[in-house]
Parts: sequence; structure tokens; C-alpha cells
Amino acid sequence: MAKYKIAWLPGDGIGVDVLEATKIVLQRLALDAEYIHGDIGWEFWRTEGDALPARTVTLLKSVDAAMFGAITSKPAKAAEAELVRALQGKNLAYRSPIVRMRQQFDLYICLRPCKAYPGNPLNYKEGLDLVVFRENTEDLYAGVEFAPVPPQLAERLGTLSKAFAKFGELPAGDYAISCKINTRKGSERIARAAFNFAKKFGRRQVTVVHKANVVRATDGLFLETAKEVARDYPDITLDEANIDALCMWLLKNPFNYDVLLAPNLYGDIISDLCAQMVGGLGFGCSGNIGDKLAVFEPTHGSAPKYAGQYKVNPIATILAAKMMLEWLGEADKAKRLEDAVARVIKDGRVRTYDMGGSHSTLEMAEAVAVKL
Ligand SMILES: NC(=O)c1ccc[n+]([C@@H]2O[C@H](COP(=O)([O-])OP(=O)(O)OC[C@H]3O[C@@H](n4cnc5c(N)ncnc54)[C@H](O)[C@@H]3O)[C@@H](O)[C@H]2O)c1
Repeated sequence: MAKYKIAWLPGDGIGVDVLEATKIVLQRLALDAEYIHGDIGWEFWRTEGDALPARTVTLLKSVDAAMFGAITSKPAKAAEAELVRALQGKNLAYRSPIVRMRQQFDLYICLRPCKAYPGNPLNYKEGLDLVVFRENTEDLYAGVEFAPVPPQLAERLGTLSKAFAKFGELPAGDYAISCKINTRKGSERIARAAFNFAKKFGRRQVTVVHKANVVRATDGLFLETAKEVARDYPDITLDEANIDALCMWLLKNPFNYDVLLAPNLYGDIISDLCAQMVGGLGFGCSGNIGDKLAVFEPTHGSAPKYAGQYKVNPIATILAAKMMLEWLGEADKAKRLEDAVARVIKDGRVRTYDMGGSHSTLEMAEAVAVKL
């Protein structure tokens, strides 16, 4: 029996291409693992009405970790229109399977390292090494949404909130509500994860990203909780910034930042920004980490226009596999893999289209495998 059971979830579009490439390097590393395919994505929504079928949830309950490619998501109406005829009109609601995985398995840490590997022609600045800790299960992604708004809810909000009065007069179908829900527990554990990481890896500072001056209730709770956690880490500087200002300062003075700690939506936004600073989505890797399971993926989506062309950069996914190796306790293999990626980037002989080259997804993976 293999030492590890890994769920293998290619999903949609380029998710298939980049996972195939990543298998090449994991096999070259001779990781003692069994890779078990799991169905996920648009095809299963269309034909079964469920983008994360129950059999995949069962699989995830039985594995040590998972590698995930990408999925295609579409707004509610477009999603319903694509269901096979037999499933139309059955009140099925599409929800992103990656968001569901995060919530169902309580993968509360979204860890996104953004490192500028020397020699990458796409680096915004050489030497950047940012790490994003994004809360992964709450906030505006909690999934508590109303469109149309039920009359009982409108009535109740009308009695509880003065600010709601102007909305309550609108017809139910003319407005929508998405609830931003943040808890003390959720804020505390992601803050602790960020500070623990900073302590373990000798990072000097954690910046809390928020908009507590306007979004007082939820962002206020997130910020205050992070400040409480920070007291347990006197050697690490606590910094804070409004999300809007941070986007400007990050570009202007990126070396003023180190570890970034954010609620779900702001974390999602800044991790794309940080990924772009170290080469773009072809380099952005991500770990969705809980206490029992972790799912690793590239930050990017399914990029339908490149699907099946084996054109996109697999480095983001290969670096996600490196994160998986670290999480499994395979530090040696993780280091070898990261070194191999760094050497391929530095050599500059093999480059995918985003780096100005014409090598394919699989050629890039082979180049990394050769360095292992
Ligand atoms: N975690 C996920 O699975 C995830 C994340 C984001 C978006 N999505 C979904 O993906 C679909 C497409 O979304 P999108 O086009 O906005 O974002 P995307 O990340 O799929 O792609 C945007 C663009 O980034 C570039 N790009 C992405 N990955 C790359 C790679 N590995 N190498 C080189 N270039 C790369 C391409 O130019 C691409 O067109 C949508 O349905 C969206 O909902 C899924």
C-alpha cells in the first residue's frame, strides 16, 4: 500500500492540463502515493446537477490530501440554462465546488506564498517574497444570500436597521442581499495561523488587511481579534492597512510588506495582485488547509480559451504540489522540487507563452523533472 492517498481533481479547462503536468514531477520525485481521480466541475453540474458529487466528497474523506486543478463557475441564471433538460426547472442552485470543499471540510486557512524567483522576466521586482493568509470559510463567501429578498427578512431588517429603510421600500426582485459573516473563532484561527507561520519562518511583520473604518461590524471584529492574537507574538510587528490603500502601497512599496492577513474577499483580491507581482497567475499557488485535510491548487481558474491546448504555465500548480509535500511532512522532496523550479526559471531556456516563450505545459513540467 502506498504511504499517501491523494485525491486527484483536475476539474475544468486548463485544470486538466496543469494537473497532468504536475503528475510528471511528482512521479519523478517518486512520492510514495496513490493518486485517486475525483469528479468535480462543470460537466457534473450540467449532467448531474452537482459540481461536487457525493462520491467526490466521500473520496475526500478518505485521503491524506488533494490536488485540485480548476473549475468553471458561472452566475446563477447562466448555470441553470446549461443544465441538461431533465434537470431544468428543479430549483437546483449552482455553488462553486471549491468554495463548498473549503466549507464542508473546514479548510479555514488559504495560504498563498508569492515569491519572485530570480530570473523570471515577469517579476515586478526581484526579491519579493510575500505570503497571504486568507480566511477561507466565512465573510462574503459564507453563502448566505437572498435574491429576491424574502418579505420576512425585509420586514425584520426594517425594524432593526435605519440604514435599511431605503432598501426596504424597493420591490423584492429589485435588490439582493449577500451577507458578510465573520466570527471571532474564524478570525482568531486564521490570525493565529498567520502569526505562527511568521514565528516559525522568521518573518518580521503581519499586516492585517481590512476596511474597518467603513465595514465596522465584521471587519472591526476581524481586526480586533487579530490585535488580540498579536499580543501572544511580541517579536512580530503588527501592522494594519485598509484594503484600498493597501493595493496602492503594495505596488508602490512592496518591500514594506511580509505576511498579509485578510478576511476572505480581500484575501482573494490581494492574492491575485501579489501573484501578478511575481509573474502572474502562472506562478500563484494556493493551499486550502484545515486540521484534517488540505487541498492544494493553483490560484488561477479554468481559463477556457486555453483549455486542452497545453499552452499555460504549470509552475503555479507544481508549486502547489510543493506546498502539499511540505504539508505531508516531505520537506526534503518539497525543497528539491522548489529548487528545480527555481533553476528552470533562472536558466530561462524553457518558457511558456506567459513568460515570452513557446514551450508547452508538459515541456515545462519535463524541464522541472529533469532538474530533480
Ligand atoms: N479556483 C478556481 O477554480 C477558480 C479561480 C478563478 C476563476 N475560476 C473560474 O475560471 C473561469 C475563468 O475565469 P477567468 O478567465 O476570470 O480567470 P482564469 O484564472 O481562468 O484566467 C484568466 C487569464 O489568466 C491567464 N492565466 C490563467 N492561468 C494561467 C496559467 N497557468 N499560465 C498562464 N496564464 C494563465 C490567462 O490569460 C487567462 O485567460 C471562470 O469560470 C471562473 O469562475 C475558477
